[in-house]
Amino acid sequence: MKHLTGIASLSDNDIAQLLDRADSYANDLQKENFYSDALKGAVIVSLFFEPSTRTRTSFEMAAKRLGADVINWDAAHSALKKGESFSDTIAALNALRPDAIVIRHSEYGAPDYVAAHARCPVINAGDSWREHPTQALLDALTLRRARDKIKGLRVAICGDVGHSRVANSNMALLGRLGAQMRVIAPPFLMPQKFPAPGIEKFTSMTEGLPGCDIIMMLRTQKERLDPAHIPDDAAFYRDYGLSPEKLALAAPGALVMHPGPMNRGIEISDEVADDPRRSLIWKQVENAVPMRMAVFDFLLNNK
Ligand code: NCD
Repeated sequence: MKHLTGIASLSDNDIAQLLDRADSYANDLQKENFYSDALKGAVIVSLFFEPSTRTRTSFEMAAKRLGADVINWDAAHSALKKGESFSDTIAALNALRPDAIVIRHSEYGAPDYVAAHARCPVINAGDSWREHPTQALLDALTLRRARDKIKGLRVAICGDVGHSRVANSNMALLGRLGAQMRVIAPPFLMPQKFPAPGIEKFTSMTEGLPGCDIIMMLRTQKERLDPAHIPDDAAFYRDYGLSPEKLALAAPGALVMHPGPMNRGIEISDEVADDPRRSLIWKQVENAVPMRMAVFDFLLNNK
């Protein structure tokens, strides 16, 4: 049984296959009402223990575009609220025999726990600050469609890198695809450990941005920070927010990414976020559907 709980479980061949399949689905989706019955008859359970707009909806869209049914399990109205343990909830869901489980959870490693107990493929839709593998895959798809080649691109991930599962999965994946990775973060939001060797570290945007082809901005994960350590919004924007002036320090024509949700005026300015020549942000959302279609195909049809 295959699961997708982190980038490390994917071989280079798996990654290439996933990106090719997603690229082809992205072309298919340019046509109105694209539908395939690749997953017809499958029932997918989606378990979100943390808020989500784009991730949850795009998983559901992806499943439905492939003919599967989706059950959105509602954490707020579940038996967990009646005192049931997480492990009993998972055992109960398992007994219902879904064909796949998509899970987002604030606990580190929760998707691996579910994968160890489930009788079906489990997909991590983000756990704590550990991993968000399908986000990194859709970011790679977005880069590949925008710039053809990821190899040789210099990519800066900026802001709250230390608490970002998006950053962790992207550092692991984009580095393997040949990008030169760097992080730019204030010292207190710099990770203690990195998922791959050779990542350059900067604590200032002025020093870190020159030469970068891609700038990936992150939301400060206030829900994972001690309230006493939450930075002041205006000071954060001044030092680490991506304004047009800071973007001008990067390589000419550098492109901007953000996994969303954006906090405008804190980590990114309106001008940068809304510049159609520089921002890939809405393309990232669009590419979430074909990428997650490819992931479902890969796990459910390739057993
Ligand atoms: C991110 C997440 O939830 O990890 N968003 C996403 O999935 N597109 C980033 C965030 O919450 O800041």
